[in-house]
Amino acid sequence: MHHGVRISGVGSYAPEKILTNEDLAKLVDTNDEWIVTRTGMKRRHIAADDQATSDLAVEAARRALERAGRGAEEIDAFVVATVTPDYPFPATACLVAKSLGVPGKPAFDISIACSGFVYGLTVVSALIRSGVYRRVMLIGAESLSKITDYTDRATCVLFGDGAGAVVLEASEQDCFLGSSLGADGSNPEVLYQPAGGSRYPATALTVEQHLHAIHMSGKEVFKFAVSKMVDCSLTALQEARLTPDDMAFLIPHQANLRIIDSATKYLKVPPEKVVVNIHEYGNTSAASIPLALAEMDAAGRLSDGDVIVFVAFGGGLSWGAVAWRWAA
Ligand code: ACO
Repeated sequence: MHHGVRISGVGSYAPEKILTNEDLAKLVDTNDEWIVTRTGMKRRHIAADDQATSDLAVEAARRALERAGRGAEEIDAFVVATVTPDYPFPATACLVAKSLGVPGKPAFDISIACSGFVYGLTVVSALIRSGVYRRVMLIGAESLSKITDYTDRATCVLFGDGAGAVVLEASEQDCFLGSSLGADGSNPEVLYQPAGGSRYPATALTVEQHLHAIHMSGKEVFKFAVSKMVDCSLTALQEARLTPDDMAFLIPHQANLRIIDSATKYLKVPPEKVVVNIHEYGNTSAASIPLALAEMDAAGRLSDGDVIVFVAFGGGLSWGAVAWRWAA
């Protein structure tokens, strides 16, 4: 039996501690002007020493449940998109379900870096539309500060922590309009965490050489990001038989304001339709899109029937877009 799917609740959480551009200028040779003009970032939220990704995820999930008017026991499965799991295994989603008081429910993580939320939205929508589950909690959550090298100015200014969650439910109306996902593992080292996996297991040397932190060739990522964001947004819209003009909002992954500006220029989307909160959070990887969506919802900016395109790119390299109809 086939169902439609809708988002019935959104929630987000960002840790209290703030790291400003001025704070970063005390750690590395950088300054507010460079960071703002090159990235659009002003502040980032940073998890406390005793806060792991599941802790952020649980806060966001509680808020999404409240907004959906649901209890955790009504959720059939839990999915967390993250590259900063509490542990390499078990999946962070298992810990989230336990913390929400419902151990025993199916739970798994999606590991596809910053594209995690759009991949998750596609996979979870398919599970609901095909009738496997009726209600699923999808969370994008990251503690990137825990894998950031605060001696490397090329990366440490970019990343922040946070979580965003959506409750997805079977419904008569189908809000999933189209999706376009992709990945190319030809050059993983363009954006990766080199050590700690089975290729380079942790040793004293990998720690000494900061190989457990994010390594990135910023320029390479930049070039690929703009073209892929444009391509997959258009393909997702085409699948939905829509054009960029039909979009009420574009919610892009928040990696760099210049990337967002370039992509939206190609797509010919006016700035007022492009959701940007990068100045407040920096790049929160899989959390950035649901964080932005939750802010839009809380501000009452979303109306019934709005077409939203969620678009992301990241490590893999990977990319993806989902065209979605908002149902109030
Ligand atoms: N402060 C001051 N100067 C800096 C800093 C800094 N924080 N970082 C780099 N510089 C210097 C460089 O050393 C270089 O100096 P040089 O010309 O003397 O060699 C100069 O600034 C220019 O550096 P570029 O790397 O060319 O700067 P660019 O304009 O490309 O901006 C940036 C760098 C912001 C990283 C950009 O390339 C970018 O945003 N790339 C995409 C990043 C991204 O989207 N990543 C996604 C990761 S998400 C995930 O999957 C976890």
